[in-house]
Amino acid sequence: MNKNNIILIGFMGVGKGTIARAFFKYSGRFSIDTDDLIESITKKKVKTIFKDEGEPYFRDLEKQCALWLEKSITNTVISTGGGFYRQENIKNIGKVIYLKSSFEGILKRINNAPNAKQKLAKRPLLKNLDEARKLYDTRVKEYEKVADFTLDVEDRDIEEILKELTSMCE
Ligand code: S3P
Repeated sequence: MNKNNIILIGFMGVGKGTIARAFFKYSGRFSIDTDDLIESITKKKVKTIFKDEGEPYFRDLEKQCALWLEKSITNTVISTGGGFYRQENIKNIGKVIYLKSSFEGILKRINNAPNAKQKLAKRPLLKNLDEARKLYDTRVKEYEKVADFTLDVEDRDIEEILKELTSMCE
């Protein structure tokens, strides 16, 4: 069954949530975010879950979220946490689109945001930039492998990105 969902994957800070929200304004299509779902159901921030219960517990919540998405969600844009691409059933949820940018491009995007400090603070895996770069290097190949389409978002106009995303959804 074609569920008509679009799943945005990619590294932390690449703009998955921003693009999903802009896509709503552009096309009227609602979106949900896996981190938001997890924060809402646990009433805890992701960084607090990492601190109190640890990363494996968070990954288990992502797994439960993925199973629920597969069973229950249609016609939706789904933005995901940077590690969600590992969910085994991701392809059963919908069409997977990888938002691609260089590591430097991502750091530039975060640092140029008015709430840059907040963006860094809420992401435990961005605390140590050397470690984050290593994680990025491992993940880029994996994101490409999982994705049905790759959408280059670095230094691009949002309108252009939305247009390309629309054509990928057809
Ligand atoms: C993670 C990315 C985060 C969040 C958690 C783990 C990751 O989401 O899910 O901190 O493993 O890359 P964003 O990609 O929205 O920052």
